[in-house]
Amino acid sequence: MKNPAGINTRSDMLTSFSRQHLLGIEGLSPNEIAFLLNRAETYINQNRQINKKKSTLRGRTIFNLFFENSTRTRTSFELAGKRLGGDVINMSLLQSSIKKGETLIDTAMTLNAMHPDILIVRHPASGGVKLLSEKVNCAVINAGDGSHEHPTQALLDALTIRRRVGHIMGLNIAICGDILHSRVARSNIYLLSTMGARIRLIAPKTLLPTNVETLGVESFNNMKSGLKDCDVIMMLRLQRERMHASYFPSSREYFHFFGLNYKKLELAKKNAFIMHPGPMNRGVEIAPEVADDVSRSVIREQVEMGVAVRMAVLETLAINLDTSQPEFFDEKTPKPNQ
Ligand code: NCD
Repeated sequence: MKNPAGINTRSDMLTSFSRQHLLGIEGLSPNEIAFLLNRAETYINQNRQINKKKSTLRGRTIFNLFFENSTRTRTSFELAGKRLGGDVINMSLLQSSIKKGETLIDTAMTLNAMHPDILIVRHPASGGVKLLSEKVNCAVINAGDGSHEHPTQALLDALTIRRRVGHIMGLNIAICGDILHSRVARSNIYLLSTMGARIRLIAPKTLLPTNVETLGVESFNNMKSGLKDCDVIMMLRLQRERMHASYFPSSREYFHFFGLNYKKLELAKKNAFIMHPGPMNRGVEIAPEVADDVSRSVIREQVEMGVAVRMAVLETLAINLDTSQPEFFDEKTPKPNQ
């Protein structure tokens, strides 16, 4: 039987991605990843129509819970939820005194009492979203936890690459910049290697994680050797808000060695294309003319794919909730002793 989106049956969906939460990419199978990408693919066209609305999430309550700044991720989740007909409530908790532990758990308990279906959470502490997910009965989506993971960003990046090239398997993908603090890098490393790409990290030594060799990637400290033969170049912002020491002498020097300009772009394959999760710092990690060159840069496509991917994730988790927890809508209190 077709579901309202008209593609998969409900039982297909449950067997292909049967988790309650999406907390990270680590541990997902190639099938689970491909399933979410395929579901997202079905929403791209719908999002280009005049009438973009579906009723898949009608009656569902979704909280967008952001303890950290966000422009595109928050908006994109909001749009995704609304396009699927859900009720989306945005909560910005930047001003509240966030103390890891009690405050976060208190927030979780409070929200849980309102019977949400899905919580979308961004939190500055790595592991903060998982902690919260253990206190609630609904589905939880990690919209970025500290420098740990940002699963929907990696999914949208993968969808962008797959649509551009047709596949991910065998591609040489360079991730350049502040790898140390980047949850985008971590989720992409997991996802793209799971799907058969070869990953190179390019960064100054100070901005590479110490356990880099355990990640199954190659690492380089200069663009010249790192970019050679690359099919895709993913540039990352310097996450100054997470830096508590001096990691490089100056932005000017950083741009000189690691900023992507046309000259460095020539080191990669002829058709190599450029990605960036945003927000961009023009003139720091990327030259403005390269970022704006639509023949080489897919930055805008990434934003478009973000909505489709988030629709796929929301829909999948909502369907899983329906059947996996029959007691879900009963009067419940948060799980004890957690
Ligand atoms: C990224 C993030 O928040 O991790 N942005 C995003 O979600 N598009 C990257 C960044 O902040 O540099």
